[in-house]
Amino acid sequence: MTTTALELAPVGAFPAGFRFGVAMASYQIEGAVAEDGRGPSIWDTFCRRPGAVAGGDTGDVACDHYHRWREDLDLMAALGVESYRFSIAWPRVQPDGRGPLNRPGVDWYRQLCEGLRERGIEPVATLYHWDLPQARQAAGGWAARETAERFGEYAALMAAELGDVVDGWITHNEPWVVAFLGHAEGVKAPGIRDWPTALRVSHHLLLSHGLAVPALQATAPVGITLNLAPVRSDDPAAARRMDGYMNRWFLDPLLRGSYPADMVEHYERRFGELELGDLDVISRPIDFLGVNYYSPQRVRSDPARQPLELGRVNPEPPTTAMGWEVDPGGLHELLVRLRRDYGDVPIYITENGAAFEDGPVVNGTLEDPRRVDYLRRHLEALSRAVADGVDVRRYFAWSMLDNFEWEHGYAKRFGLVFVDFSTQRRVPKRSGLWYRDFIASARG
Ligand code: FCB
Repeated sequence: MTTTALELAPVGAFPAGFRFGVAMASYQIEGAVAEDGRGPSIWDTFCRRPGAVAGGDTGDVACDHYHRWREDLDLMAALGVESYRFSIAWPRVQPDGRGPLNRPGVDWYRQLCEGLRERGIEPVATLYHWDLPQARQAAGGWAARETAERFGEYAALMAAELGDVVDGWITHNEPWVVAFLGHAEGVKAPGIRDWPTALRVSHHLLLSHGLAVPALQATAPVGITLNLAPVRSDDPAAARRMDGYMNRWFLDPLLRGSYPADMVEHYERRFGELELGDLDVISRPIDFLGVNYYSPQRVRSDPARQPLELGRVNPEPPTTAMGWEVDPGGLHELLVRLRRDYGDVPIYITENGAAFEDGPVVNGTLEDPRRVDYLRRHLEALSRAVADGVDVRRYFAWSMLDNFEWEHGYAKRFGLVFVDFSTQRRVPKRSGLWYRDFIASARG
């Protein structure tokens, strides 16, 4: 079951110290939502809202990783994975999002980290991959400044509890998604549709990140993960607006200590004055920037659309099962641009991968040539960015296991490993075996 040298050949060299990993997130894999004192999260609530999630799916069981973590770590080790980006479910370790810790929850993550270290895999922990304690939502959620302060406390508690076994911290995963898909478009938890709220939320997420940095940084390198996309458009003004909305609204405060003036002006014209202070906290120096890259954004100007006045243009083929355009060159373009505009911040690619309609398991594996091709071409683009001088230090494939893909439920499969959700059987796909061989060949 080895992949040929020819298939591995196009990818260039990666620097010493570079690690190849996989990424997953708590609510998408753990299940065990009511066990060992875990409190409810906003995703438990959202999944019960009629019509919110395809097929009425929930994360109640997911990949049952809470019980099967040993087996999953063994599989990770068998695939030769060097680093694992996982997330801590805040409601598992601090059920109300404030006050005392839930000891069994903390112990579970300690066990996980120790299990990774025993297998020679580096643990990289994300503190917020979207599962806010429901009690915090009842207190105003991310629209309330107090939640940022509570997050800072939660981060300090995790640094104290797990700082000796975690090798990297990521404060937030994709604050753009939390703010705008969760609070303006309402397609993700908590399902709110209000632009002024979404803007306030985006600011509080960034503030909470800054509040969390010092305690975490005392124990291991710290970063934040943004979903970033190069913008493609025939209209420069539309491209700039989309870039401001998706990319600069987060990059500028974090890395330059200011919000982009064009976007502040644009938003304030529509929604009135925004409270955007605290920039010295938000721009505290970080050790790396996490970048999730899946696809570029295409836009045209569309005055009929509020509030962004932007229309998304249909992606160009080939696309994935998510309808996302496959464009490996976009990753290279994005990384070179980050270096040009924001300087030499070290970069971790914290997610990259693709969902496809996979075929059946035959003779103990599943042939997924399009996923293999996706991975190979993105790793090739990444190696070009490295050769061009971008300081990239990690690459995490999304995802090791097929899992709960948020509002799409279990229908969209991103895994390098197939999961039969009726039996919880795991079967490495060809892409998983390819990634194993790729990592081995990169190690020479
Ligand atoms: C990202 C999320 C991750 C997963 C992938 C496909 O936006 O961070 O949890 O859903 O998309």
